[in-house]
Amino acid sequence: MVTQHKIVLEDVAKAFGTNAVLDGVNLEIERGESMAIIGQSGSGKSVMLKCILGLIRPGRGAIKVDGENITDLSAREFERVRAKFGMLFQGSALFDSLPIWRNVTFALTQGRSRDQAKMRKIAEENLERVGLDAKVLNLRPNELSGGMQKRVALARAIAPRPEIIFFDEPTTGLDPIRADVINDLIVELVEDLGVTALTITHDMASARKIAHRVAMLYQGKIIWRGPRDRLYDSGNPYVDQFVQGRADGPIR
Ligand SMILES: Nc1ncnc2c1ncn2[C@@H]1O[C@H](COP(=O)(O)OP(=O)(O)O)[C@@H](O)[C@H]1O
Ligand SMILES: [Mg+2]
Repeated sequence: MVTQHKIVLEDVAKAFGTNAVLDGVNLEIERGESMAIIGQSGSGKSVMLKCILGLIRPGRGAIKVDGENITDLSAREFERVRAKFGMLFQGSALFDSLPIWRNVTFALTQGRSRDQAKMRKIAEENLERVGLDAKVLNLRPNELSGGMQKRVALARAIAPRPEIIFFDEPTTGLDPIRADVINDLIVELVEDLGVTALTITHDMASARKIAHRVAMLYQGKIIWRGPRDRLYDSGNPYVDQFVQGRADGPIR
């Protein structure tokens, strides 16, 4: 069957001991769509992402990428799926001991040394896409500001030209202005590269800007999903309370 769905989660559950973090997550992400998952800190957003990335095996349910169930693939088979993925980690997670150009091309070289001139060229091209000058190629991550590190991490995520990019809290640790610059960059990259994007965030401004659709994770389930312009008009009391940051409401 031909499907437009790039990623599908069907009844995905994951518990750690008695802590049922995911408890029947259902979600479909279309090809070329940018989806944001919002939810309180500790609601299981990162666990959900790790399940898709194959870092955590769900206790039940199916996760399909291009129609293929990836939950019971061997580590070796999963490598083929992982090649479709690009990832922007929370807090950038650059390698401090490596120069910027090696950070950007890391997924391409797997840490081994490959044709240096070619890799530097690829790094330069991808850095340019995120608005960074070739001057940073030989610097180390700790010589850059937080916003610049985020750009390098973005360049690293797009360098292998993935089909799907995951963004874990892309604006955390940035001031609102720098955060907005990163949001704009993400929108531009997703459009230009035609990728499918899944962003997890508790930053409402970021969700509204980056995503076509937003879904809210609460008590292990997706309790609401809708177009981004309905986020502040969802008709769902849980979403309302969360997006308005109110202390009183159905969320304890
Ligand atoms: N490897 C793990 N072992 C045990 N508990 C975990 C593990 N990873 C996450 N958790 C628990 O899962 C819950 C959700 O965590 P997480 O997905 O990181 O939340 P979020 O990303 O929404 O802030 C938390 O209660 C956390 O303590
Ligand atoms: Mg998280």
